[in-house]
Amino acid sequence: MIKLVNVVKSYGDLTVLKNVSVQINGGDYITIMGKSGAGKSTLISILGLMDRPSSGSYELDGQNTVFLLDEEVARLRNEEFGFVFQGYNLISDLTVEENILIPVMYSRKKRVDEQYLVELLTRLDILHLRKKIVNKLSGGEKQRVAIARALINRPATIIADEPTGSLDQVNRDAVLQIFRELNKEGITIIVVTHDQTLTKDARKVYRLSMGHLL
Ligand SMILES: Nc1ncnc2c1ncn2[C@@H]1O[C@H](COP(=O)(O)OP(=O)(O)OP(=O)(O)O)[C@@H](O)[C@H]1O
Ligand SMILES: [Mg+2]
Repeated sequence: MIKLVNVVKSYGDLTVLKNVSVQINGGDYITIMGKSGAGKSTLISILGLMDRPSSGSYELDGQNTVFLLDEEVARLRNEEFGFVFQGYNLISDLTVEENILIPVMYSRKKRVDEQYLVELLTRLDILHLRKKIVNKLSGGEKQRVAIARALINRPATIIADEPTGSLDQVNRDAVLQIFRELNKEGITIIVVTHDQTLTKDARKVYRLSMGHLL
C-alpha cells in the first residue's frame, strides 16, 4: 500500500504539487489525468521513488520512506516498481534480452531466472526478438520489451507515464490488455494518460489540477 499525506513538490518558486494525499492499495488500477504541465510526471516520479517530496510523507507498506537513505530508496524502487514510459526508454544499441535484464543487474540477487525470462518473452510475444538490437524494432515491439523490463523483478506495482502515447490503436489495445491481465494477477497499475480510453479499466480515475489531486 502506498500512502501520500500532504505531499508538496516545488522546483524553486514553482510549486507543482500543493497538497496531495492519496492512498493506493495493493491490486488497485488507477489512472491520473490532467493538462500538460499539471504535474502528472512529477507525481508519479514521487510515487515510484524516483524523486522525493519537498514536504509531506510517503509510506510504502507501512514504512515511512522520508527517512530512508538514498541507497535504501533505490533498492525499494528497484524491487517494488516497474516503469513504462511513452518514449520506451530502452538502450537502443543493446538487444531485447539485455534491455530486459537491466533491472536485474541493479537488484540484490543479480541472478537471472531463465525460466521466468522466457515466460515473459513468450507472454509479451517477443521471444523471437530476444537477440535483436532494440533500435530495429517497431514501436509496439519496443513497448512490449519495456513492459517485460518493468516486470523482470516481479514488482508489486507498474507505473506507466503515457505508455500508449506513441502507439497506434492495435498496439495501444495490446498494452491495455497486458495491463488488464497483470492487474487481474494482483499487480497494482498506475497509469498517467491524456487518453480517455485508457481510463476504462481503471478502478479509480484521478485528475491533477492546480497542484491538487481530485
Ligand atoms: N526537474 C524540474 N525542474 C524544474 N521544473 C520542473 C522539473 N520537472 C518538472 N518541472 C515543471 O513542473 C511542472 C509539471 O511538470 P510535469 O512534467 O510533472 O507535468 P506533466 O503533467 O507530466 O506534463 P505533460 O503532460 O506535458 O507530460 C512543469 O511546469 C514543469 O516545467
Ligand atoms: Mg508528463
